[in-house]
Amino acid sequence: MTSTAIAVEGVVRDFATGRGVLRALDGIDLAVASGETLGVVGESGCGKSTLVRIMLRLIPPTAGRVRLLGEDVTDLPESELRSRRRHLQAVFQDPVSSLNPRLTVRDIVAEPLRRLCVGRNAMWDRVREVLLLVGLPTDAGGRYPHAFSGGQRQRIAIARALAAEPRVLICDEATSALDVSVQAQILNLLADLQQRLDLAVMFVSHNLGVVRHVSHRVAVMYLGRIVELGSDAAIYGRPAHPYTKALVAAVPDPMMVGSPEPPLRGEVPSPLNRPSGCHFHPRCPLASDRCRKEAPILMPFADQHAVRCFHPG
Ligand SMILES: Nc1ncnc2c1ncn2[C@@H]1O[C@H](COP(=O)(O)OP(=O)(O)O)[C@@H](O)[C@H]1O
Ligand code: SF4
Ligand SMILES: [Mg+2]
Repeated sequence: MTSTAIAVEGVVRDFATGRGVLRALDGIDLAVASGETLGVVGESGCGKSTLVRIMLRLIPPTAGRVRLLGEDVTDLPESELRSRRRHLQAVFQDPVSSLNPRLTVRDIVAEPLRRLCVGRNAMWDRVREVLLLVGLPTDAGGRYPHAFSGGQRQRIAIARALAAEPRVLICDEATSALDVSVQAQILNLLADLQQRLDLAVMFVSHNLGVVRHVSHRVAVMYLGRIVELGSDAAIYGRPAHPYTKALVAAVPDPMMVGSPEPPLRGEVPSPLNRPSGCHFHPRCPLASDRCRKEAPILMPFADQHAVRCFHPG
């Protein structure tokens, strides 16, 4: 049986800027179950990190709700959030800025445990256990972050995230700064840990190939909206939205099935100046008059596969 670990409903986020209100997210609905990895993919600026920050309760949504383990946490005060945070952890792109250079690895990984009332022996046992779990050498605990490579630093960040046994792990571009071979090692580690620990993982990246490596389901975002949501097989094997088709066709992977698609025309429009109707119409090879006037909604297309397009397929 699967149960929803984290969910957002109708999430909207506006930012006030000098040039007007920027709508970074425009009605996002998503749920991640325990034991699954949901990939979230889309070009830079489509709102991925804003969604992550809202789910982590680092910033509030303008509208909509966030639910963690069945509880609505949208308006919980910080004092009450503290006890929930152990269930929800994150790994970001840049481990250098998130790891305090003056602390040993042991102390960094122990951080989330200090806030729980565990005894010292139990805490250091858990630190050793979790360092082993992420594949770091046994003497890593006594060293400082600068002594490690980029990939190993990301292992330290993962160890810290998992120390207090969270139920949900959110990774925002967690492998994007790494070399390709190191990236593959970290992706394999995340996939392995997700299974062994029955974690709900949301894996966010601009890189479709990377998302494919770890995800069971994938949400494709464009200008603050989900344009396609489906299983890994549906998104990569039978993409139905013209945007997804173009992204999938651009992934350099000989295993990829499907007919060749024309490359994406043009740049992503600014969220300050979103096109009328379907936001994708200026770049879409299938755009009709209707697409320029009316905005499609996310509709069921096949089993467990939804598409926001008037002409899917
Ligand atoms: N604090 C902020 N103030 C104003 N605009 C912001 C802020 N944070 C993000 N944005 C804008 O929101 C949009 C989405 O950004 P982001 O969520 O970082 O996208 P992604 O992670 O997909 O690259 C971008 O246009 C970005 O410039
Ligand atoms: S609704 Fe129209 S413009 Fe938008 S993706 Fe579908 S075909 Fe293209
Ligand atoms: Mg981002």
